[in-house]
Amino acid sequence: MQRIVVLISGRGSNLRALLRACAAERWPARVVAVVADRPEAAGLDIARDAGVPAQVVDHRAAADRAAFDAALAAAVEAQAPDFVVLAGFMRILDAAFVRRWDGRMLNVHPSLLPAFPGLHTHRRALEAGCKIAGATVHFVTPTLDHGPIVLQGAVPVRADDTEETLAARVLACEHLIYPRAVRWAVEGALRVRGGRVTHAGGAPQWLMLDACDAAVAPR
Ligand code: GRF
Repeated sequence: MQRIVVLISGRGSNLRALLRACAAERWPARVVAVVADRPEAAGLDIARDAGVPAQVVDHRAAADRAAFDAALAAAVEAQAPDFVVLAGFMRILDAAFVRRWDGRMLNVHPSLLPAFPGLHTHRRALEAGCKIAGATVHFVTPTLDHGPIVLQGAVPVRADDTEETLAARVLACEHLIYPRAVRWAVEGALRVRGGRVTHAGGAPQWLMLDACDAAVAPR
């Protein structure tokens, strides 16, 4: 059984999608702990409801950045994970932590990287007049929202979209692609060479959705 630690900061809808898929599809893995950087993260309750130990490494309680980084590293290390999965974790990780989990840490970002790293991706996609938006699962490198791309999902941008409607459509897409990508990782199906990721079995590493407005809200 591969051991997964999930890091969250907020709502936890991607965490929920991962927990559901892991159980329903009988992955050779389990989520052994969820760690949040803030006590009010709603995703902590999702973890607890699923019987997964949830803990907080409060960034405000840490004396400084280095103290937080050390506390987070210790909390993750204590779980001896095979994979670290960032699911809406909103803090920049220090380079030593990223190196420690190189090739074993995944992130989902709500844009078609390398477009729009960072915040406000949906607003920026709308402002740029994009006709397609989406989400990316990637291995984590020290550069923010950067790293070998595992899987991308695309959704249409509609003429009347607002940040909120586009975010909801992209989020539904995240809920499909993130569990798929993490499953590939725990199955040992991913190969990384020269910054490119391939699936050993040749599974398509893209998804195009034109009708995923249903099931957008966290349930
Ligand atoms: C997602 O859009 C994720 O891509 C971004 O933050 C959001 C987290 O949502 N990094 P949730 O906490 O998984 O509901």
